[in-house]
Amino acid sequence: MTQDSVAPMSRGYRVLAIESSCDETAAAVVEGLRVCSSVVASQVEVHAEFGGVVPELASRHHLDAIVPVIRAALEESEMDLQEIDALAVTDSPGLVGALLVGVMAARGLAMSASLPLLGIHHLEGHLVSSFLGDSERAAREFAPHLALVVSGGHTELIAVEAFGRYTKLGSTRDDAVGEAYDKVSKMLGTGYPGGPVIDDLASSGDPDAIAFPRAMISKGLEFSFSGLKTAVAVHLEREGMPTSREALADLCASFQAAVVEVLVHKTVRAVKSAGSSQVRVVGGVAANSGLRAAMKEAGDRHGFTFEAVPLRYCGDNAAMIAGAAALRLAHKMPSPVNVRSTFSLAALSEEST
Ligand code: KG4
Ligand code: ZN
Repeated sequence: MTQDSVAPMSRGYRVLAIESSCDETAAAVVEGLRVCSSVVASQVEVHAEFGGVVPELASRHHLDAIVPVIRAALEESEMDLQEIDALAVTDSPGLVGALLVGVMAARGLAMSASLPLLGIHHLEGHLVSSFLGDSERAAREFAPHLALVVSGGHTELIAVEAFGRYTKLGSTRDDAVGEAYDKVSKMLGTGYPGGPVIDDLASSGDPDAIAFPRAMISKGLEFSFSGLKTAVAVHLEREGMPTSREALADLCASFQAAVVEVLVHKTVRAVKSAGSSQVRVVGGVAANSGLRAAMKEAGDRHGFTFEAVPLRYCGDNAAMIAGAAALRLAHKMPSPVNVRSTFSLAALSEEST
């Protein structure tokens, strides 16, 4: 069955979506942007001992989790497959082995239930995440807005011109910001994922204790975080590991201050150059308390509104994938399934028109 065979709806489209692009196995049901269920099985414990995601292990654990997670999402939504209009699955970008588990499960389900299947870009899901639960607001405010996408794999400033039309204004030249958090946490021996731990420690530390570099702060809209990571390594080599919780908190607060200052500075620059009045920060790092507070303050000072994504939708989840699919159906946008490990939002825009 094709996407075109889905009848127009007065209510939002009911979509069951699967997300398995990295280390969370997730399934969710939405009606439009109303979330009827959202189930996430995290593999954090599996990858923790390695300090990062091990692709082969991720695929194997997705295989174990996928059927129970889909079943739980349907059960929680109190719908059965007959009441669903379409299925959706994250098909790019991500770890190929991990993506394939979700895609195979979605294809099998689509065939057995005679439902159309949409392939969804993971980052379009993140862009939709900040509108979940509020279709009317999405209709009013989705475009135009400026999005800062910050996760374990991405750091990008995106001009959202319309649903399906995205222009990349800048991105990282090396590490993603979440990756920098995870690597610094590995150096400090504070565990994986590093973001939440460092964020927590930073809240009681002195952000001015150590002067870490603000990479490329005066130039354009590109980011770089590998130098900051190296600066932390050099500091540890010179000064040794922090010997008290206070010293550890100071180091975390100083690292976080460097990250947040660059992210906010570049966002403000993008707001000015693109003439945006609305900023949304999405992705796992959008949960960061320092970033949320600094972005709010910058918005007040520079005249843009900043909306924080609910914490439960910052990290990877399938509700955002289902929401993006419901909007694609409503906009009658082609969404074939194409598994690609790397695929940009700008390239998606070209395929969507
Ligand atoms: O979006 P996400 O769940 O997965 C990817 O698509 O990558 O983001 C995961 C990343 C991890 O690097 C994690 O350390 C980071 O988000 N993260 C945070 C916080 N919570 C999660 N980084 C900074 N502060 C946080 N509170
Ligand atoms: Zn993500």
